[in-house]
Amino acid sequence: MKKIVVLTGAGISAESGIATFRDANGLWEGHDVMEVATPEGWQANPALVLEFYNQRRKNGLEAQPNAGHLALVELEKHFEVEIITQNVDNLHEKAGSSNIIHLHGEIFKSRSTIDSGLIYDIEGWELNMEDTCEKGSQLRPHIVWFGEDVPMIEVAVEKIADADAVLIIGTSLAVYPAAGLVGYAPSDCPVYLIDPNANDLTVIRDNVHKIAEKGSVGVPKVVEELISNKN
Ligand code: APR
Repeated sequence: MKKIVVLTGAGISAESGIATFRDANGLWEGHDVMEVATPEGWQANPALVLEFYNQRRKNGLEAQPNAGHLALVELEKHFEVEIITQNVDNLHEKAGSSNIIHLHGEIFKSRSTIDSGLIYDIEGWELNMEDTCEKGSQLRPHIVWFGEDVPMIEVAVEKIADADAVLIIGTSLAVYPAAGLVGYAPSDCPVYLIDPNANDLTVIRDNVHKIAEKGSVGVPKVVEELISNKN
């Protein structure tokens, strides 16, 4: 069965009511990224960081997958699909996709600050000071902050290096190492870029099919095309 690797970013969740990072009114508005999404910010003011992610989580609880997420579930009926997401929301899971790699962590999980192998589900939306792991250490959001390693990048590289087709959806490709992943796709493998801001100046590599549409429109279109050209 052909393998399709899908790289998603904040744009696929925009129509589910989750703000993107680099558009106007982005998520960081009112917050200095360095304060809420770096190890230094955490050291300086963990309560502020916890509160920031609590608010994101509260919004995320209400969010529902949109037609873009759902089209990727349909794709699984016809291809082997691997989703590599930069998103920390759980909308691919809620939609029903099976294989999801979270490059930047998951907002509905917490992690021990002394043992990174201790990861827990968060029920509801709150993670607070004094919430501890089983070893007694403060819990932090299970998020990859700026300046931290991206442990899932190696498995993501392996997946994309083996792809028969690649879909890139709703990402500005501004943040590495995620942005470099497409460079590992086989040179003859078709790449589809679905993003309302995709234009002639968007250069990723040769032979990229650019679909300048919102995810809810562009993803179902490409999925339909892939399915009808399957044989
Ligand atoms: N459908 C599809 N794409 C959209 C939509 C939509 N409805 N609305 C906006 N977009 C596109 C924008 O054109 C932009 O290219 O989504 C992209 C969002 O880019 P960013 O905000 O930079 O988000 P992302 O690429 O996911 O950011 C990468 O940076 O801040 C860190 O760790 C964070 O995972 C995040 C990473």
